[in-house]
Amino acid sequence: MTDLNPPPLPSPVITAPLRLGDEVPGFTARSTQGLFSLADLRGRWVVLFSHPADFTPVCTSEFVAIARAADRFAALDCALVALSVDSLFSHLAWIRMIHDRFDVRIDFPIIEDPSMVIARAYGMLGPKAQDASAVRASYFVDPDGILRAMTCYPATVGRSVDEMIRMIAALQRVHAGDVLAPAGWTPGADLLRPPGETAEAVHGAPDATDWFYAPVPDEPGK
Ligand code: BEZ
Repeated sequence: MTDLNPPPLPSPVITAPLRLGDEVPGFTARSTQGLFSLADLRGRWVVLFSHPADFTPVCTSEFVAIARAADRFAALDCALVALSVDSLFSHLAWIRMIHDRFDVRIDFPIIEDPSMVIARAYGMLGPKAQDASAVRASYFVDPDGILRAMTCYPATVGRSVDEMIRMIAALQRVHAGDVLAPAGWTPGADLLRPPGETAEAVHGAPDATDWFYAPVPDEPGK
């Protein structure tokens, strides 16, 4: 006879929290776009973002907003990958509902993580968390698989798509290490030169502040 009792889950693995500059954990899992491997996105910028639950109001508003901005992410060659604890069939039913209600197709993969093993590997959950209700995290990953930024929002507040896109654009612009992105930077606005680190740089600067605060025009590729 079939045993309908699922095997006990392994005890949660306690992992060190992910830090900026770490290589992100790889994984292969089922998704709404078929079997998904993070390794297949090497060479591209990626936003991996989690949500607390399918069929919830704030999460639905985020998915509609992110899907409507898909062209803006694509223009930055940035892949979107969503993840939650819900089953693949819940994800599929939810994206159909979103399509029917909002006339938006969710064409990026939504990963199922029923055991929360991926969420734990990324440090989205504390080792003692019993459920994923606190998870609204975003991981901004560079083409080498290195974590460059992360955000964590509560279940009660949705993310800003403009800020997600601004973050990717800024991370891409500063990636070579020759410029810094000031507060509120958006493409086309002035950037900042990295500060001087020697007495020569201080004394050689045209005025008393230029060595540490020097706006430079945004000239991509230069
Ligand atoms: C929401 O996305 O609306 C939500 C998610 C988890 C708990 C409560 C609300």
